[in-house]
Amino acid sequence: MRGPTDVRAPAPFGSWPLPKKPGTIALWRLDAVRGLREKVPAHGVDAIVTSPPYNLGVRYSMYHDRRPREEYLAWIGTVAQAVDRALADDGSFFLNVAGPPSDPWLPWDVAREVGEHLRLQNVLHWVKSIVIERAHVGRAAGLDRDLAVGHYKPLHSDRFVHGAHEYVFHFSHRGDVRIDRLAIGVAYQDRSNVGRWNGARGGRRCRGNTWFLPYATIQRRSSDRPHPASFPPALAERCFRLHGLARIALSADPFVGIGSSATAAAQLGLPFVGFDIDAAYLAVAARRLDEQLGTPRLPGTPSTAPSRTASSRRRSPSSRRGARRTGRTRASSSSRTS
Ligand SMILES: C[S@@+](CC[C@H](N)C(=O)[O-])C[C@H]1O[C@@H](n2cnc3c(N)ncnc32)[C@H](O)[C@@H]1O
Repeated sequence: MRGPTDVRAPAPFGSWPLPKKPGTIALWRLDAVRGLREKVPAHGVDAIVTSPPYNLGVRYSMYHDRRPREEYLAWIGTVAQAVDRALADDGSFFLNVAGPPSDPWLPWDVAREVGEHLRLQNVLHWVKSIVIERAHVGRAAGLDRDLAVGHYKPLHSDRFVHGAHEYVFHFSHRGDVRIDRLAIGVAYQDRSNVGRWNGARGGRRCRGNTWFLPYATIQRRSSDRPHPASFPPALAERCFRLHGLARIALSADPFVGIGSSATAAAQLGLPFVGFDIDAAYLAVAARRLDEQLGTPRLPGTPSTAPSRTASSRRRSPSSRRGARRTGRTRASSSSRTS
């Protein structure tokens, strides 16, 4: 088994030109922290969407997903430090984490660790399965029976209810990044509300923080989704849209797995860079991108970003200090090493 510190020489895995815009989708076989430090410009990434290992004993093919809690959280702190360096001044960091019903603090422990470096701006709930009772939505919704939809994995327990959601923590440097709520908005059901509420542009309202996004139905796990802990591309797509597509010159996922965020970026025409230590997962990601983009992979080293005005992205020391959370004393994770 390899841990996250067993970093081999960085290997460019592939790079695909975007069909309609300058820029590429680039994959590297590389440790997340090292990739964020070495392969992207400081403050050069506008939107990062990622899901690190959760330390739950998931059977990844290379990474050992069961480490002492303190060691795991210290590593998350190091990842957050690298994200802090890579994220643009007005960038968004979307962090997908979940815990088992028996350890409900785990995602929050992760969020608090990241909160040492970035400000928690929104808490989003990725709902994987849901039940909607006909009696609660009324005849207008057109339901003729109760609806139970989404991915349901039975849990046999007389203590815990089935866990049907995961968190997506939205961090930014100072908690004040402008987001495009209506880009992922929903139509008002009752048109009379359109005139009543401010911000009801185009008859749409904010979707809120509960996002029902089921996995796509697949025939065979081993070929269609050969990864033990992937998220649907639609989750990454929604995060990118919420940040605002027009403000993304470069997107990234430091734990890219089988490339769900990469395919979302490709779909949206966003330059992207992804890292993973596992060549088998990256091979699946590369296959998905081959199929999706239908363009020949570029030979040689992936180029990471279209050129950008670094000065417009650089933050002043005072604004960086403003990003720090206040009111909680914990050992600074800057003293920790990966
Ligand atoms: C939760 S999965 C991410 C899955 C991804 N979101 C997808 O949809 O395919 C975590 C990934 O982190 C990778 N990983 C573990 N340690 C890593 C490290 N130090 N650097 C980069 N990737 C790492 C694992 O190989 C695994 O693919």
